[in-house]
Amino acid sequence: MKIPFCDLATQQNLIKNKIDERIQKVLAHGRYIMGPEIKELEDQLSAFTQTKHCITTSSGTDALILPMLAWDIQPGDEIITTPFSFIATIEVIALLKAKPVFVDIDPHTFNLDINQIENKISNKTKLIIPVSLFGLTPDLNALQDICNKHNLKLLEDGCQSFGASLNDKKSGSFGDAGATSFFPAKPLGCYGDGGAVFTNDDDLAEKIKQLRVHGQSKQYIYSSIGINGRLDTLQAAILLEKLSLFENELKLRNQVAKRYSDALSNIKEVICPTIPNGYQSAFAQYSLLVEKRDQLKEYLAKNDIPTAIYYPTSLHQQTPYLKLIDDDTDYENTTSVCKRIISLPMSAYTNASDQEYINQTIIDFYK
Ligand SMILES: Cc1ncc(COP(=O)(O)O)c(C=O)c1O
Repeated sequence: MKIPFCDLATQQNLIKNKIDERIQKVLAHGRYIMGPEIKELEDQLSAFTQTKHCITTSSGTDALILPMLAWDIQPGDEIITTPFSFIATIEVIALLKAKPVFVDIDPHTFNLDINQIENKISNKTKLIIPVSLFGLTPDLNALQDICNKHNLKLLEDGCQSFGASLNDKKSGSFGDAGATSFFPAKPLGCYGDGGAVFTNDDDLAEKIKQLRVHGQSKQYIYSSIGINGRLDTLQAAILLEKLSLFENELKLRNQVAKRYSDALSNIKEVICPTIPNGYQSAFAQYSLLVEKRDQLKEYLAKNDIPTAIYYPTSLHQQTPYLKLIDDDTDYENTTSVCKRIISLPMSAYTNASDQEYINQTIIDFYK
């Protein structure tokens, strides 16, 4: 019995013929760059997120950097974000020679602690990038209030949270812009790299569309310095087919999460994820805080249960970034969570019998 950490095969079996048809259609029309599937997908994604504009991109990383380029983020500008995320969140800041300013996380939701943000705002602060980690948004309404008060931009890093919502408003639709990723293991993933920016701002959308094609305003006329940030037509075609399953998959992910929480929340050495009222998580990951994390991981591996550590190290301790950080805060919630967190197999198709086995193995470990 081999339990996949992220089961992509079951989904593919469900729609393989349709995906094949979609791919054949692209091969037949031959418009591999910015073919008709791009617009079709962007329209469907805007409708899903209830945003005016969706601009698909070559990755989630590019979906983060494109709005920052559009806002002309300058060297030395300060950008407030979380130290508990995937590296791309601060990579884009560093690439623009701006400065990441960290706010520690709330250890229950793993998202940045909104109460600590105003202390970190200076006259150089331009932007806040909250991350909706593991599929759960932070309180983006409270963040918007802070941004309004201090005249800051708000860019949600929703690379793990496509499909999540807060009081029925979708991840991606908050703030000035939202970025997401279609990396294969994400809640909505393609078969390669991909991403999207969402915004209700017409000027920003227009600027980002130019920036993703090298800053081109008319053919071979450039109005700004951009990047090659387009999504491939083939990936758009694949996403269109996967999108038809997505609403149901969100429900399935929440059922998988509930089956874990029902079985594990009574173990005193284990803390299950907290989803506050009004929030719906996309459950990109199901992550526990546990005692004896490394021993548990080893025990599960011996019992053929794959796990992952997202993330073993806080971003403020990553070597290439040390020179950008001039305070010696140790972000104690983040460093503590890095030592205790473990993610269990999670996908819409993680099945109940595999979960029973996983849950029982964890229960046995703590006996
Ligand atoms: C929080 C976060 N930000 C940014 C990214 C970057 O996305 P991508 O891998 O599509 O460039 C990821 C994904 O891996 C992520 O998890």
